[in-house]
Amino acid sequence: MSGDRMTCDCGGLLDVVHDPSPASILGAEAWKRLFDHRRRSPSCPADRSGVWRFRELVLPDLAVSQLVTRGEGNTRLYDASCSPRANAWMGTTDVSFKHEGENPTGSFKDRGMTVAVSWAKKSGAKIVACASTGNTSASVASYAALAGLTSVILISEKGTAAGKIAQSLAYGAKAVMIRGDFDTAMRLVLQARTKLGLAVMNSINPVRLEGQKTVIWETLEQLGWDPPDWFVVPGGNLGNCAAFGKALREAYDIGLIDKMPRLAVIQAAGANPLVLSSRDGWKRHTVKAATVATAIKIGDPVNFSKAVRALGWTNGVVTDVTDQEIMDAKAVLDSDGVGAEPASCATVAGIRKLVSKGVIGRDQKTVAVLTGHLLKDPDTTIGYHRGTLDGIVPAAPNPPVVIDPTIDELRRVLGA
Ligand code: F0G
Repeated sequence: MSGDRMTCDCGGLLDVVHDPSPASILGAEAWKRLFDHRRRSPSCPADRSGVWRFRELVLPDLAVSQLVTRGEGNTRLYDASCSPRANAWMGTTDVSFKHEGENPTGSFKDRGMTVAVSWAKKSGAKIVACASTGNTSASVASYAALAGLTSVILISEKGTAAGKIAQSLAYGAKAVMIRGDFDTAMRLVLQARTKLGLAVMNSINPVRLEGQKTVIWETLEQLGWDPPDWFVVPGGNLGNCAAFGKALREAYDIGLIDKMPRLAVIQAAGANPLVLSSRDGWKRHTVKAATVATAIKIGDPVNFSKAVRALGWTNGVVTDVTDQEIMDAKAVLDSDGVGAEPASCATVAGIRKLVSKGVIGRDQKTVAVLTGHLLKDPDTTIGYHRGTLDGIVPAAPNPPVVIDPTIDELRRVLGA
């Protein structure tokens, strides 16, 4: 594949295909031993990375010396004992949370970005660019800084979360705010690729998705390669859905797992083109997106066809949840002391809905992927607890109180 190739001549998406196939190189048990051995490497940062210790299954064309890595991945898998309130709220007993907010820039994007930026650098790119709802831009900015490349980010002038903008500015990206939404920014960055020669780091870039597959393998490894019944993930541009389906399929083909987990993709009700499509024979739908979960405020997902393929491979399901449900779910997960940004908590609301419909069994082993850190979007969290979010009535508000600094006042507010 040439360095900046994004799409096929037919206009469709491109896939990375590994040749020779990993299954023909080593047996499943030997792969597992190799991944585990690398994780504990004292000397090699690439080995310790939660992406690159799987490198033969990610992008073997890159030498270890060419990797732009921050040791991404290696995120915690919080079992149900860490989230008793969220499990009770969902009506479940065995939902674990894979917290991708614990990556270097606070989201799962770093797993794809280490691959996309390494590949761009090797291919001679000078400027890397993305359209973003915020997390991709923070990750591009950080990895470009490490690689010594210039980064350009296209974000919506309105609605991008403060933490994400702050990161992109701080890491030195050229921040371009457009008068338009994410879908408009996405179209513009693809034009900029052909007209201005910028290397695009969005998930339309197939090598980025190769890195995101490692969320699945790392989780399976943490579970002793005993697969869960379900992986649940929020859906925006549908890169994760596409990558997770490919990861599961490859794990099954190599023999790393002997049972195929099912994928559940959860969209916001105001940004639900995949849900509409699922009700219409998988005909492509687009919407004008609107949701409090700004990370997934996407109406025309670029990975649509790969996502449909992934749902087919995994006997997957897709559903949507309202902003009220997302924010109430978030408040419950946050109150467990785990916490995540709003888009991530669509999974929590989605599991509750799928359990109530009998799609996910209450005792089924389920892994929900938390895609971004709570601190990415502090304004929305504070707004919920203060009751100032438009159209949202907080179920369990925990607003701050202001007092004069006297012991009597403190006693009064503590009810002591
Ligand atoms: N969760 C978070 C926190 C995200 O930032 C995103 C996407 C998603 C979920 C959806 O993932 O696109 O793979 O379906 N954020 C992109 C961005 C669009 O620009 O940061 P997806």
